[in-house]
Amino acid sequence: MKKINSGIYGLNALLDGGINENSTTVVIGMSGAGKTTFATQFIRRGLESGQEGIFVSLDENKEQIIKEAIEMGWSEILNYIEEDKLVFIDASGMEFSQFIKKELPDFVSSWKGANARIAVDPLTPVIWSTPDRYEQRDLIGFMLKETRKVGTVLCTLEEHGTIGDLSGTETVIPMYLSDSVIHLRSSFEAGSKLERRLKIIKCRSSGHSEMEHPYSIIKGFGLVVRAGDYPLVATRDKVDQFASDFKILEGNVPNYVFKRLQASLKDLRDRDLADINTKELLNAILAEYEE
Ligand SMILES: Nc1ncnc2c1ncn2[C@@H]1O[C@H](COP(=O)(O)OP(=O)(O)OP(=O)(O)O)[C@@H](O)[C@H]1O
Ligand SMILES: [Mg+2]
Repeated sequence: MKKINSGIYGLNALLDGGINENSTTVVIGMSGAGKTTFATQFIRRGLESGQEGIFVSLDENKEQIIKEAIEMGWSEILNYIEEDKLVFIDASGMEFSQFIKKELPDFVSSWKGANARIAVDPLTPVIWSTPDRYEQRDLIGFMLKETRKVGTVLCTLEEHGTIGDLSGTETVIPMYLSDSVIHLRSSFEAGSKLERRLKIIKCRSSGHSEMEHPYSIIKGFGLVVRAGDYPLVATRDKVDQFASDFKILEGNVPNYVFKRLQASLKDLRDRDLADINTKELLNAILAEYEE
């Protein structure tokens, strides 16, 4: 799986190297969590490495997004727009099913190449455009499929209601349909100051941190994520010990199973086994194949 740098300082290490190229990521958060800032950073990082950027806005107009980006300390945005490296699609006020089924595919088929970064901010109005859940799923699925043709996709999603309850239809459908889900959670813990926490809910075909990570939004830097207790240096001490104990399986489980499992050990790091009692696991494997 080829990884690309997210543009969010501190995040790549938590995603086993970055965002999967040509995948779709959904960033969920309540108002003010930093979704638009995240999307802007993601696009900006692509522009820095020569990728083109497409910003699809479904409710804020282009001028507003540019203004916010400049206030965030990113005035080069104007140069990228002038050079046509950054393209805005302002779909605010449009009829979304028409936009997704007609204008978007037209845009995609006229786009050359498949190496851009495309951000849709926010995806929520598409869900609201129809009460029919099947149609919502169809529209979102179609939109993700089309946008993926031009490169790596990032969609933001508004979180409403109880913070952290991601089970509402407006979050569930995009979460199922996308490859990765990142939750930006901001709340006032016990009436004190604003606490911001980032959590990777899923990342298909990749390992990732399963912890909550504090993050800040800093002018000029944007979202900055802290690793906290997550081990940034990937050690293999426990894995090496496991690999040594593993030999007990040889001759006691089918040989092809032994070879397959043994081959997978080389990709493991200690953090993968952090919650595992390796002796118990070996016994479970032995029991599985006991005649
Ligand atoms: N120029 C800035 N300097 C410092 N902090 C900023 C700046 N701009 C934004 N922020 C911080 O980022 C937060 C808003 O970020 P952003 O607009 O990305 O959130 P959002 O999740 O897109 O919100 P919404 O759902 O309302 O669109 C602000 O509440 C503020 O805390
Ligand atoms: Mg926003």
